[in-house]
Amino acid sequence: MDVFEAILRRRDVRNEFSGERIDEERLLRILGAAHSAPSVGNTQPWDFVVVQEPETLARFAGHVGECREDFARSLPPDRKDTFNPIVVEGIEASRTGVVVTYDPTRGGAHILGRHTIDETGRLSVALAIQNLWLAATAEGIGVGWVSFYREPFVRALVNVPEHVHVVAWLCVGPVTSLQTVPDLERFGWRERRPLGAAMHWERYPEDDVSTHR
Ligand SMILES: Cc1cc2nc3c(=O)[nH]c(=O)nc-3n(C[C@H](O)[C@H](O)[C@H](O)COP(=O)(O)O)c2cc1C
Repeated sequence: MDVFEAILRRRDVRNEFSGERIDEERLLRILGAAHSAPSVGNTQPWDFVVVQEPETLARFAGHVGECREDFARSLPPDRKDTFNPIVVEGIEASRTGVVVTYDPTRGGAHILGRHTIDETGRLSVALAIQNLWLAATAEGIGVGWVSFYREPFVRALVNVPEHVHVVAWLCVGPVTSLQTVPDLERFGWRERRPLGAAMHWERYPEDDVSTHR
């Protein structure tokens, strides 16, 4: 699969996990791709905690269920109706969670490139996640990013130290198929903007179409 095909075929997976567990060889290849990402000052500020204990997965799924309820309660009635049928996680079905963390202390006090923009550390972790996601797609493995959680809960669940941030919980596992249209589009929540609305020549537009709902 070439890189453009992987980019276009990649999906956020919730419903299509087959229920098998990913084999270790593939998991290591995918994590190797994540670990090859660029990072500010070459700090490689990420860590990957692989979670496969059914009890831990079940406890996290319970917590995510509560966070989903909180979000649903915050919605106006029409958005709640659109949101309700959307599945937001495949934590237990995927059989493997990868908790991706960010350690801002990695690399010491003088990080080449982070002295002006602190965010570059966390952005480096996002690039590792994208590498993981694309490599998984090329391997026929599904990935679902879960962010319906409170950080202290995950920190306590998998023993992340106080100074390290939890960036993502990724559900990783074999799939029966990948959707061609993202779930959030299929269920009418939000569509992808056309490239023409996102791309500008020379200057940011004064009439910013991106702020429209
Ligand atoms: C930072 C981030 C957090 C996300 N959190 C969730 C989540 O908690 N639950 C979920 O179902 N999808 C989550 N997603 C997936 C997005 O909904 C999905 O990427 C988007 O709808 C586009 O669909 P696609 O990835 O299939 O192209 C997240 C994606 C990102 C990048």
